Amino acid sequence: MGLGYIGLPTAALIASKKIRVHGVDVNAHVVNTINKGKIHIVEPDLDGLVHYGVQQGYLVAAAQPKKADVFLVAVPTPFKGDHEPDTAFVEKATMMAIPFLREGNLFILESTSPVGTTEKLAKLIFKERPDLKGKISIAYCPERVLPGSVIHELQQNDRVIGGIDSKSTDAAISFYSKFVKGELHKTNARTAEMCKLTENAYRDVNIAFANELSIICDKAGIQVNELIELASKHPRVKILKPGPGVGGHCIAVDPWFIVADFKSEARMIKQARLTNIYKREWVIGKIKMAADDFKKKNKRAAVIACMGLAYKPDIDDLRESPALEIVLDLKKLKYREIFLSAM
Ligand SMILES: NC(=O)c1ccc[n+]([C@@H]2O[C@H](COP(=O)([O-])OP(=O)(O)OC[C@H]3O[C@@H](n4cnc5c(N)ncnc54)[C@H](O)[C@@H]3O)[C@@H](O)[C@H]2O)c1
Repeated sequence: MGLGYIGLPTAALIASKKIRVHGVDVNAHVVNTINKGKIHIVEPDLDGLVHYGVQQGYLVAAAQPKKADVFLVAVPTPFKGDHEPDTAFVEKATMMAIPFLREGNLFILESTSPVGTTEKLAKLIFKERPDLKGKISIAYCPERVLPGSVIHELQQNDRVIGGIDSKSTDAAISFYSKFVKGELHKTNARTAEMCKLTENAYRDVNIAFANELSIICDKAGIQVNELIELASKHPRVKILKPGPGVGGHCIAVDPWFIVADFKSEARMIKQARLTNIYKREWVIGKIKMAADDFKKKNKRAAVIACMGLAYKPDIDDLRESPALEIVLDLKKLKYREIFLSAM
């Protein structure tokens, strides 16, 4: 359920193992495109896999679920209001699946979710279907793929799998072993949920360190890239590259799921988010200063060229992209002309 950046490659990979997949999406364009053997997102090697699955009859897309052995949910988990996790899509997808669940089924949540979500979904399922108590398996298994390399990583990466009980964990391990070559690590649902959030918060904190360094170095008249290269000669130091902020649907979003639930405890995780958001404003300030200097010297407004709108190279994903935010802010400042280049 959910045929986006995660759900579609997963569905196509499973179908390529000659397992029948009934892919569900609420977006009719997504369903129609896939049923033509085509794809609606940019991801290397995905088109061939989807084309093969549809042509061979192993992959079918539809607007509604049907009876199946395994249900796998990969719908969005954005934030709402003041960075509070929004699990409405996950709950809606679960409600859509509930009438089709049968004894012996395995229900898996893959969407990045706040700690406790899988247990909440289990409660929801058993409230609606008390007949299934103890008769189905429910597990959480987060995704950790790199956009642009999803098909390769889906198969090769290790996976962390946590059920609501050990029977559920074992059932999910057995399912993933059909198409994942990486190691499958057993845990419980809460630890698996926290594991995904931890991975992205770790990346965010480390990027924030590099971003803060770049601001300090600018003030100190030091080349930050040279400094990082030199400091990383220390055998136990590895500093990431600074940039204009952090983008994408994961690293820029998931740490907030920890902050929302652990407001007093998650101080550094919150500060990393704020530092990475501030870096964008700092870059805008720098561009503005350079443009104003240009105008003073040349008696005409500067033309600003912005190259690369996605949050990293060679992908088409604009979600939470700091580059896009920078361009939109520059537009508000009414510079004479801004050139854009998407990739
Ligand atoms: N994109 C990534 O690189 C990545 C990596 C790891 C984890 N995740 C997580 O995976 C989840 C999915 O992310 P994504 O990037 O694939 O999102 P996406 O927006 O690309 O795709 C989600 C799809 O779900 C569909 N959908 C929404 N509600 C539905 C419902 N009730 N039933 C069926 N389909 C429904 C949408 O129409 C959309 O096509 C999120 O929780 C995200 O945080 C994403």
